[in-house]
Amino acid sequence: MIKATAPGKVILFGEHAVVYGRPAIAAPVGQVRATAVITPSPDTDIHLIAPDLNLAATLNEAGQDNPLAAAVLQVAPFHQLPPFILTVTSQIPIASGMGSGAAITAAIIRAVAHYLGLPASNEWVSDLTYEVEKLHHGTPSGIDNTVVTYEQPVYFVRQQPQNRIEAFRVARPLRLLIAGTGIRSSTKVVVGDVRRQWQANPPRFEALFDGCGQIADQARAAIEQGDLAEIGRLMNQNHALLQEMTVSSPDLDRLVTAALQAGALGAKMSGAGRGGNIIALVEAEGETAVREALLMNRGTAILSSVVE
Ligand code: PMV
Repeated sequence: MIKATAPGKVILFGEHAVVYGRPAIAAPVGQVRATAVITPSPDTDIHLIAPDLNLAATLNEAGQDNPLAAAVLQVAPFHQLPPFILTVTSQIPIASGMGSGAAITAAIIRAVAHYLGLPASNEWVSDLTYEVEKLHHGTPSGIDNTVVTYEQPVYFVRQQPQNRIEAFRVARPLRLLIAGTGIRSSTKVVVGDVRRQWQANPPRFEALFDGCGQIADQARAAIEQGDLAEIGRLMNQNHALLQEMTVSSPDLDRLVTAALQAGALGAKMSGAGRGGNIIALVEAEGETAVREALLMNRGTAILSSVVE
């Protein structure tokens, strides 16, 4: 049996603007993971089983457009693949800004590569995961596949010919509460909507993206210095810019406000928005109060995660 996993993720700073070449910061969330297991096939077929996605089919039945099949076929063309059973499970909430698609793809690619005896560097897994992300999301920045494969906090800039990917020092651990709105949202739809608004008013959106990029740079410096108060302030500023981009929502804003009122150092939506999650930066002493406030305000699937 072969098993590979990949973590969930949160974007700490710079979502959306990252699609337009501005810097962003993301961190893995290791408590929730996607897992791919490969076992020998009883017949000559490749079987794909994903109970969470209601899928039990052969690779051929699933078809090339199926996200799981697409991940397998990134590793090798069909005629080079031996028969096997691939079982995929995930604890990462779907369509909630936690990178569930990228994590499932990365776990499958690692497992299939391992099964075939191929070396699988982080860079290689990330690049192949990006190809699958493109099939489903149109113009992904590449930050999701990067953070779930490298599994460490990353400073990321989308650029040619090669993305800038830097690890950096986290001087003081960041204690985060992640709370869901319970509303699923399509990254592709929200990213497309931001693009339409940008096309309708380039100067305004370029300025918003610049603002997010500057915040991400300041946040990296604050994280490297361990200045938690400053990191919190920057999260609030980033949230305000995301509101201006119209990607926040009343549910996200309600959770952000509740976290701040309960004493969080900062809070913002995370990921594509219009649903999905918020993240709140808390101190150990204040965590329980913020968690309760989030629960009282209909926050779901609340997770505590430490970025270090
Ligand atoms: O997949 P999500 O919901 O975490 O969103 C990804 C972040 C975006 O910046 C909105 C899109 C991207 O490709 O970077």
